[in-house]
Amino acid sequence: MSSITVRVFEDKLSGSQYIADALRSRIHTNDSDSKRTVLGLATGGSPKKVYDLLVESVETGELSFQNVTSFNLDEYYPIGPESRNSYHYYMNQRLFNHTDVDPGQVFIPEGDIEVSEVDHYCKAYERKIAGYGGIEIQLLGIGGNGHIGFNEPGSSIESETRLIHLDEKTRRDAADSFGGIHQTPEKAITMGVKTILNAKKIYCMAWGAHKARPVQQLIEGEITAEWPVTFLQTHANVELIIDRAAASLLTDSSNFIVN
Ligand code: PGA
Repeated sequence: MSSITVRVFEDKLSGSQYIADALRSRIHTNDSDSKRTVLGLATGGSPKKVYDLLVESVETGELSFQNVTSFNLDEYYPIGPESRNSYHYYMNQRLFNHTDVDPGQVFIPEGDIEVSEVDHYCKAYERKIAGYGGIEIQLLGIGGNGHIGFNEPGSSIESETRLIHLDEKTRRDAADSFGGIHQTPEKAITMGVKTILNAKKIYCMAWGAHKARPVQQLIEGEITAEWPVTFLQTHANVELIIDRAAASLLTDSSNFIVN
C-alpha cells in the first residue's frame, strides 16, 4: 500500500492554487531562514496554471525568486533554446521572464549539445543537483502512457539523467506543436526515475479524464516499469493533486481527501 496522499479538487484552478500556495509558503519559510529553495520544475499543460499563479504573486510583490534555484526535468533533443517548442522557451515565457530569478540559478537540460558530450553532460547535471543538496520540491505531471519526466515505459527505477528515445505516443501527442510527426524530435534528455525519487517532496498533478488511467495505475496498480509513474509508490512524501475527472477511475474513495 502506497503512502501517497491523494487530494481531489473540484477543478484544475483550485488544485493549482493548492500547489502554488505550498510553493509560496516553502519559499517564504526558506527565505526567512536565509536558505535557498531548490525546485524541480516540469513543463507541459499540467503546471501552467501553477506558474500563472506564481507569476501573479511575484507581480504583486508577495513572492521573490531571488533565493530560488531550479532544475527542469527534461528537454527535447536535439533542439535549440530559442525554438518555440523547446522547454527553455516554455519556462522563460511562462515563468522565468516574469520573475526576479537569477538566470545563473536556472538549470534546464540543454538540447543543443554535441551528441558526444551528452553522457558527460547528464552526469554533470546529476552532480549539480547533488551539489545544491538535492531537490526540495519536485513538480510533476503524468504522461498519458504513465511517463514521468520523459522516463518512458520500460525505464528503470535506478535510472538517472540520460538521453532517451521518446515513445511513439509521446511523439504523437507533441506532433501538432512541431508541425507534424516527422518534425517531432525522437529523443530527449530527462532526469531519471531515481533523480525524481531523490526529491524530498513531490507534488504530482493531473487534470482531465485523459489522465484517469495513469492516475489509477499510480494509486491502484502494481509497481512496474511499464507504468513509470507507479515508481512514485516507493517514495515517502508524494502528494497527488488531481481534479474530479482525473480521479474518475479510482475505486476506493476512502483513500482520498476531497477538497
Ligand atoms: P501534460 O504532460 O502536462 O502536457 O499533460 C504531462 C507529461 O507528459 O508528463
